[in-house]
Amino acid sequence: MKRAKITIVGAGNVGATCAHWAAAKELGDIVLLDIPDRADLTRGKALDLLECAPIERFDVQITGTGDYAETANSDVVVITAGLPRKPGMSRDDLVNTNVKIVKAVSEQIAKYSPQAILVVVSNPLDAMVYTAWQVSGFPTQRVVGQAGCLDIARYRTFIALELGVSVEDIDALLMGGHGDDMVPLPRYTSVAGIPVTQLIKPDRLNAIIERAKVGGGELVKLMGTSAYYAPAAGTIQMVEAIIKDKKRILPCAAFCQKEYGVGGYYVGVPCVLGASGVERIIEVELNADERKMFETSVSHVKELCELTRKTLAG
Ligand code: LAC
Repeated sequence: MKRAKITIVGAGNVGATCAHWAAAKELGDIVLLDIPDRADLTRGKALDLLECAPIERFDVQITGTGDYAETANSDVVVITAGLPRKPGMSRDDLVNTNVKIVKAVSEQIAKYSPQAILVVVSNPLDAMVYTAWQVSGFPTQRVVGQAGCLDIARYRTFIALELGVSVEDIDALLMGGHGDDMVPLPRYTSVAGIPVTQLIKPDRLNAIIERAKVGGGELVKLMGTSAYYAPAAGTIQMVEAIIKDKKRILPCAAFCQKEYGVGGYYVGVPCVLGASGVERIIEVELNADERKMFETSVSHVKELCELTRKTLAG
């Protein structure tokens, strides 16, 4: 069987770490691409990673390049290109710069890999995945955004730390945009099947939820730049589900038209991810409070998309 081809655009911290996880999981041949000015650095990172293969025993090709021609006919393209946050910045502060970058990338990807599935990681996420969809002209099913996998991983980590139990046993759901108003859902969170509300008192659970919501900012403060290990792990979890046609249910930024009454935007919802991309969106019941929080988050996503539309038009 033909090996999958995965292109990762942006060889910064998130992109290079995506390449690392994808290689370690032997998901396919990897092309790491950055702007021509950074082509040597990108080639170097790819070669350095390839030289791990004899130790880690993965049989994949890893190529670094500044030339989109080398990405041709990719099955999956991960877009990490764009500026990361600095301390004091919100993800939204990046919109004007990153929309231009993601636009340029999406044009090239659509030209060279017209059948690819796009997994967008750049921030502000919900607006950047919208940009990639608009510019590529791809069907909505083949354009998806990473955020929920990361946000839910943070939420699950904090629950596991609180309870002193394995993260493996924590299942959770989180919806909305990838902003500080994202919506972790304790009613849909369980620990080995036990509702989390039976194990953690409301004040502690609220503190965990609040920490998860600003989990990205906590790391920006500590590191002076955006996180990358968990964002990349969340991205590659999605890529694996697509390449192996796993039909995993993962929280992703997916295009919701009538779903949840969103009306044509990308927002975080539970999706079935498989070889065709977003194969299904699952609509869960939300109570009045949950719906209100979800709608607040979605209205924020819509505002960002309006800004994006203006930048794309002008
Ligand atoms: C974060 C960035 C990647 O949440 O958005 O860490």
